[in-house]
Amino acid sequence: MIKIKAILHESIHKEGMTQDLIKRYGGAAPRYTSYPTAPHFNAGVGEDAYRARLASLPQEPISLYVHIPFCDTLCWFCGCHTKITRRYEPVADYVDTLISELAELAHAATPDLSMSHMHWGGGSPTLLTPKDTLRLARVATALFAPAQNYEFAIEIDPRETGIDRIAALAEAGLTRASIGVQDFDPQVQQAINRLQSFEETAAAANNLKEFGVKSLNLDLMYGLPYQTLARTLQTIEQALTLRPDRVALFGYAHVPWMKTHQRLIPEDALPGPEARKEAADAAAELLIGAGYLQIGIDHFALPDDSLSQAEDARTLRRNFQGYTTDQAKTLLPVGASSIGRLPDMFIQNEPSLKSHAKRVTEGHLPISKGVLLSMDDQLRATIIERLMCDFSVDLSATCTLFGADITSLSDAFPRLKQMQEDGLLNQSKGTITVTETGKPYIRQIAACFDQYFSQGTARHSSTV
Ligand SMILES: C[S@@+](CC[C@H](N)C(=O)[O-])C[C@H]1O[C@@H](n2cnc3c(N)ncnc32)[C@H](O)[C@@H]1O
Ligand code: SF4
Repeated sequence: MIKIKAILHESIHKEGMTQDLIKRYGGAAPRYTSYPTAPHFNAGVGEDAYRARLASLPQEPISLYVHIPFCDTLCWFCGCHTKITRRYEPVADYVDTLISELAELAHAATPDLSMSHMHWGGGSPTLLTPKDTLRLARVATALFAPAQNYEFAIEIDPRETGIDRIAALAEAGLTRASIGVQDFDPQVQQAINRLQSFEETAAAANNLKEFGVKSLNLDLMYGLPYQTLARTLQTIEQALTLRPDRVALFGYAHVPWMKTHQRLIPEDALPGPEARKEAADAAAELLIGAGYLQIGIDHFALPDDSLSQAEDARTLRRNFQGYTTDQAKTLLPVGASSIGRLPDMFIQNEPSLKSHAKRVTEGHLPISKGVLLSMDDQLRATIIERLMCDFSVDLSATCTLFGADITSLSDAFPRLKQMQEDGLLNQSKGTITVTETGKPYIRQIAACFDQYFSQGTARHSSTV
């Protein structure tokens, strides 16, 4: 509590200094979980091109991302691709579809590929019954055998994850769990339609540990309605009593033009950009004071966690699920709206449940769009990924890697120069290093290399 008071006091003094930078660099920018970003995927990438690449994948471990787009109640802040269902029947049917899709994927790909990571995201994968959980996991691991140091991660909604589901997940080989928390304050929870007690969150965390699931992440958010700085810090203090290995601290992305249910969020109760920045800074200070290392833009991890070690070794990666230690060059998408990556291609599955099921039943791989990566895309993707992961990038070395001349990036230079003058970054011998002042604006710095950003009409959430 003394620590919270000290942070609250200090943050008042920092306020004025940041207002100017927020005005200049706090605008909208992508979160760069891919480059090019999803709004630039197009229908020109077809199933034939995808199948041709799958058939010639090298004998290296792949990863799977399995999307479960169902929840039993709607959180009004939710930006995920999900559908609310009170009945289990559509979920059971969906599991059957996923199993068929997995079989077709394994059939289309190079035979006998192993798997380094499997991630189940959503929506709420914990909506699956224990029987369906085991059924799906067993099919996936029978088709793609777990490689050495295999990881199986899942996103958990503790409001529905009783001991029977956790037992099934443990039996299925779960190694990493990410629990959705957001905020423990009752007024905030009411305003986002997510009532979740500390006790049910703690029960899920403790049960996971008892069943041997070693690694635990908690998802927290700032920028939610009625969230004051004190409430944010209070939530973090409570969350830390569960000793998570990782904490993801997401800034609420308010995009009501895309997610119309977000109109239920009272906009006048949302913290403004300065309050959001203040909350993010103070939360980081509290987490760092508790022994966590800050990873990228929104993650914190204990020093012995693999995410911290990857950051230290500069092998951290960023994909559609955020920061990861997974080094697989191929991430295969499974399920409606799921996004995947091959070395020179992004693909996204049909977002509609109906079309997804129809395509799978007809024996297709249900991709709906994607993008082929030119050499220039791959160069810029690497630069953006290193900036988002390391806050630094050696432009000269990266250009050499792709056989490009550094002048091919000259469109980025005028804006980078301005950012250097504003103290956001330093440049020396072809290397960009982001300063502490610049870190909160990393999305804007990365956007300097994004050739689609200025041309595009896509709207994004604000940077801070
Ligand atoms: C798929 S959910 C996690 C699993 C489960 N559905 C749950 O909510 O407990 C993924 C996470 O995304 C984050 N999230 C969802 N909507 C968001 C938004 N609009 N802005 C920022 N983060 C968001 C939340 O922290 C949430 O826990
Ligand atoms: S935040 Fe999680 S539980 Fe809530 S609606 Fe979104 S996916 Fe479902």
